[in-house]
Amino acid sequence: MRVHGEHYRTIWLMPGDQSVVQIIDQRPLPHHFVIEDLRTVDEMAVAIKDMHVRGAGLIGAAAGYGMYLAALHAPQGDEKAFMKALEAAGETLKATRPTAVNLEWAVRRQLAAIEAAAGIPGKIEAALSTAQLIADEDADFCRRIGDHGVHIIEEISRRKHGDVVNILTHCNAGWLAFVDYGTATAPIYAAHNRGLKVHVWVDETRPRNQGASLTAWELGQHGVPHTVIVDNVGGHLMQHGLVDMVITGSDRTTYTGDVGNKIGTYLKALAARDNNVPFYAALPSSTFDWEQRDGLQIPIEQRDGDEVRYITGLHDGELVTVLLTPEDSPAANYAFDVTPARLVTGLITERGICEASEEGILGLYPEKRRQ
Ligand code: MRU
Repeated sequence: MRVHGEHYRTIWLMPGDQSVVQIIDQRPLPHHFVIEDLRTVDEMAVAIKDMHVRGAGLIGAAAGYGMYLAALHAPQGDEKAFMKALEAAGETLKATRPTAVNLEWAVRRQLAAIEAAAGIPGKIEAALSTAQLIADEDADFCRRIGDHGVHIIEEISRRKHGDVVNILTHCNAGWLAFVDYGTATAPIYAAHNRGLKVHVWVDETRPRNQGASLTAWELGQHGVPHTVIVDNVGGHLMQHGLVDMVITGSDRTTYTGDVGNKIGTYLKALAARDNNVPFYAALPSSTFDWEQRDGLQIPIEQRDGDEVRYITGLHDGELVTVLLTPEDSPAANYAFDVTPARLVTGLITERGICEASEEGILGLYPEKRRQ
C-alpha cells in the first residue's frame, strides 16, 4: 500500500543483500516511518515479541522469514545438526506470541518444506522460496478478501441510495497487520477505490492503540475518511444508527466459527447484535485453527501490565512515555478475547463469504472435512 505516495509491503528482503530482512518498525508510527534491518532469527523473534511487527498475517510472514534467517546461520556441515537448529528456531519463534495461529502455521510449513528439500543448499533455497511464498500468498489472499467483502459494502450503499456507509473497525487489521491490503480494511479500500462513499469509525484499541496509531494512519495515507473514537463509543454510535456494519480481523478462528481477536472485539459484537448491526470478521485461511472446536480454548496472550500503565505519544517532536496510573497500581493486560460464532454475521475469506459455523466454513474449505 501507499506511504507518502510510494508502494510498500510490510516485510521484504533487502535489495542487493538476501541475508537481510527489512520490516517497517511499527512502534514509532504514526509519527516516524522507520525501516529496520533483521539479520538473525533471534532478532526476528524480538521484533515479533516486542511488536515491531504485529498482526496475524504479518506475524506468519515474519516467522517464515525468521526460519529463512535461521537456515542461513544453521550449521552448514551436517544435515542432522542443521535440522536440529531449524527445529529450535521454530520453537523460539512459536514462543514469542501464542494467540495468532498464523505463526505456528508458518513455522510448520517452513519445517515441512526444508525437511523435504535435498542437501543444505537446497534446504536454504526451500526456506527462502517458502518465506516468499507465504508473504506473496498473504498479500494475494487479502486482495481477494477485498474483492469478496466489497459486495457487502456495495449492497449497503445501494440500500442507502449512495449515502455514506459507516463502518466500525477495531484494532488494526489493515495492511500493516499483513503483508499488503489487510483483511478488515481490504473491502474498505476496494469500496473507496470504486468510488463508494465510506467512512470508518476507528476504535483507538487500548492499550497498544493499534487503531489510533496504525489504522488511522494507513486509512489517511490512502485518503479514506475516518474518525478515531475511544473504545467505549461504539455501542452509543450503534444505538443512534451511526454504524452500518462492523468489520474486524481475527488472530485465530476455530473451525466452528468462534473468532479470537483483539481484546474488546467481543463487546463490539454484543453491541452490534443488540442493535441489529451486521458484524463480520475478515480472515485468510491461514488464520483458521482446524484443530480447535471451542473458542474459549484459544490461548489468550497476557502481556506486560506496563503497556496499560504507561502511554507513549509525541511531545515537542519527541516520542515520550508517561505514567497513567498510580505508581504502585498493578495492571492486567489480556491481549485478545473470543467472539462466539452466534454473534458473527459472516466470515469474509479469500474463497468467499460464509456463515460462522462448521458447515459454512467447510463449505468453502471442503478439503478440511474430517473423514
Ligand atoms: O496484538 P496485535 O496487534 O498483533 O493484534 C492484532 C489484532 O488483533 C488485529 O486486530 C487483527 O484483527 C488480527 S491481525 C490481522
